[in-house]
Amino acid sequence: MPRSDPFKPAARVANQPQDVWSIINEAAAASPVQPIVNMGQGFFGYNPPQFVLNAAKEALDKVECNQYSPTKGRPRLKKAIAKAYSPFFGRELDPEKEVTITTGANEGMLSAFMGFLESGDEVIVFEPFFDQYVSNIEMPGGKVVYVPMHPPARGASETTSAGDWTVDIKAFEAAITPRTRMVVINTPHNPIGKVFSRDELLAIGNLCVEHNIIILSDEVYDKLYYVPFTRIATLSPEINRLTLTVGSGGKLFYATGWRVGWLIGQEHLIKYVSAAHTRICYSSVSPLQEATAIGFEEAEGHNFWEESKKEMKGKMDRFNAIWDELGLPYSDPEGGYFVLVNMAKVKLPEDYVFPPHVASRPRDFKLAWFLIVELGVAAIPPTEFFTPQNAHIVEDWLRFAVCKDDEILERAHERLRGLKKYIQ
Ligand SMILES: Cc1ncc(COP(=O)(O)O)c(C=O)c1O
Repeated sequence: MPRSDPFKPAARVANQPQDVWSIINEAAAASPVQPIVNMGQGFFGYNPPQFVLNAAKEALDKVECNQYSPTKGRPRLKKAIAKAYSPFFGRELDPEKEVTITTGANEGMLSAFMGFLESGDEVIVFEPFFDQYVSNIEMPGGKVVYVPMHPPARGASETTSAGDWTVDIKAFEAAITPRTRMVVINTPHNPIGKVFSRDELLAIGNLCVEHNIIILSDEVYDKLYYVPFTRIATLSPEINRLTLTVGSGGKLFYATGWRVGWLIGQEHLIKYVSAAHTRICYSSVSPLQEATAIGFEEAEGHNFWEESKKEMKGKMDRFNAIWDELGLPYSDPEGGYFVLVNMAKVKLPEDYVFPPHVASRPRDFKLAWFLIVELGVAAIPPTEFFTPQNAHIVEDWLRFAVCKDDEILERAHERLRGLKKYIQ
């Protein structure tokens, strides 16, 4: 008998609520205030540094850069990454066996899950989480087990440090079952801006050793830390044996559209990530791998890492001055380029009409909608990074991305002053 509905989608893509990026981007496009000041999605408002751009342009003139790269990545890029990261890992990384190149960090993580999960295997994810983790885990049949992180109790009344968000190690331990195969950690963290402390990482890492759990450490913001930064892979040989560290050329070189990422780990882990990656997309974009390699080779000479961190911290501090002016508390980031601001003091007009797809969401969606339509500033509602049962933890917060031109940050200030009359 023929199928009654040939277009019935697979469960993994069916019935997904409209994702936050579409809601916010559509609202931004429809806002009466144009052009919108878009501090929502974490893409850069400016170009990669000139030496990296030049490398990309020149790569297109090389015959071999327009053809397939080896599935595990271009040898030049693997070598450049191994050289750049060996000092941070405290040992010589083998570029052939311990580094694999992927199509952005995102596909790298999908490959890791594809490489290790069987149907029904569990993966522990801390909330809030980068939303892609969930579908990446579920596609190979994995089950996500959530452990919430908590903002400081004072977070609604005073500015606190992003480091004050707590990870409940006991709750993590309680979430471990015989089916737990992997845990995902993210430091510096999106959206909190927390840099996990050495003690927190050690506690998580030791439990993973005890239970033989693979650690996927998402460190895509690893050059943007404003307090000491620890890599979990470096804490002990036993933890290192279980750890895959994730990186992103897009985040490091302001080129999120290039889709160049990588995983670093010991051979017994990396070989299966590469095997999955080969089947998912065969190999990744050649000219931009070449340009990323040159970016790494020349970064120190341009003092790029120092400058990039200094520049981002400057943007962060300049932007956050508006919250001090308005008297709205925020969670002062320890790393990355996102800031969470607490809007509990903002009273939305009672008779304000929200469209149904916003009205049915938690308060942060309404706050985000209001800011877009009334003030012309786009931010992201962070309940999207929580499960529905824990969404209440962040329904008064909004996430702003500061990786934008200074002029845009200045315009954001002017517009956000319009919030004054709603603050109580
Ligand atoms: C925490 C985190 N991990 C991974 C990614 C994805 O990185 P890529 O663009 O290299 O796939 C992002 C992008 O926003 C992110 O915030």
